[in-house]
Amino acid sequence: MSEAVIEFSLLTKVYSFGFWGRKQRALDGLSLRVERGAIYGFLGANGAGKTTGIKILMGLQFPTTGSVKIFGLSPEDPRAKARIGYMPERPYFHDSMVAADFLHFHRSLFGSYLGKKLPSNEELLELVGLAQVADKPLKGFSKGMLQRIGIAQALVNDPELVVLDEPMSGLDPVGRKEMRDLILRLGQRGKTVFFSSHILSDVESICHRIAFLEKGVLKFEGDIAEIRKSGSHRQEILFTGLRQEQVAGDPSLSAAIRTGDAYLLHTSQVSHAKAAIETVWKLGGTLLAYHPEQRSLEDFLFGKEKA
Ligand SMILES: Nc1ncnc2c1ncn2[C@@H]1O[C@H](COP(=O)(O)OP(=O)(O)OP(=O)(O)O)[C@@H](O)[C@H]1O
Ligand SMILES: [Mg+2]
Repeated sequence: MSEAVIEFSLLTKVYSFGFWGRKQRALDGLSLRVERGAIYGFLGANGAGKTTGIKILMGLQFPTTGSVKIFGLSPEDPRAKARIGYMPERPYFHDSMVAADFLHFHRSLFGSYLGKKLPSNEELLELVGLAQVADKPLKGFSKGMLQRIGIAQALVNDPELVVLDEPMSGLDPVGRKEMRDLILRLGQRGKTVFFSSHILSDVESICHRIAFLEKGVLKFEGDIAEIRKSGSHRQEILFTGLRQEQVAGDPSLSAAIRTGDAYLLHTSQVSHAKAAIETVWKLGGTLLAYHPEQRSLEDFLFGKEKA
């Protein structure tokens, strides 16, 4: 098994609030491990407990019971903090600062503690696509630009692990695409990325692995590749060049529906699709299209089976 970068063990967090000390169980027995090099999606609806988990991971809150380890160390250990970059859910930006000074300020917070060469402003701004606005004050930045400078800020110490709380929130489709590309680039540079989101489609296209929380309880943890392979798959075959009686007379094609000159066949069995394609060729027809549909994360998590 490869090295665990993050390990949650039976983590429970109960908040007490209000005059009567009402209790809110934000996390309930959460256990998961994130391996080095993974792009890991921490999923759940609003209020599922994602931010609570991330704050405990960053040492900003303490669990009620259970424990967290980062690189095998406690989250409060400065040796762990030196290896982590973090963008909070609602980052605070000193908006009168220009982008380059903002990064310089965050880098100076590490002092000379790290004892290694850190990435320059130019490198960081280039990476997040903000090289052109290095000398512009943050108050003129769009939401998408602020999210990206927030990520650059999380990278000033050249961390091995990058933790992002809802990096896609509030972004339009273009901004979300840019953020997905940026997360992929971090992965290519060998960083482990752990990020929360409630937008399933953003997660399934870039994550290796996901955890799905519901009201503080882990409902699913696993590989995206496994999810794609699981369940039944809808196959769609479009063909032409055969006569009606040829189609109707062959058991592998008889369920096809006529659409103009062509025939459309749906099946959920790979073996049926294979037999149908072979028959089309054998009878001298033409295969126009074959679409094997993969199971989406939404279908998997919310139990929608395709026919
Ligand atoms: N400081 C607090 N005091 C009391 N309850 C809290 C506190 N922080 C969070 N909660 C509650 O704990 C639960 C989990 O909240 P959390 O912010 O961790 O969820 P989340 O998954 O990050 O949600 P969102 O998608 O809205 O950011 C919620 O019911 C929330 O109201
Ligand atoms: Mg949150």
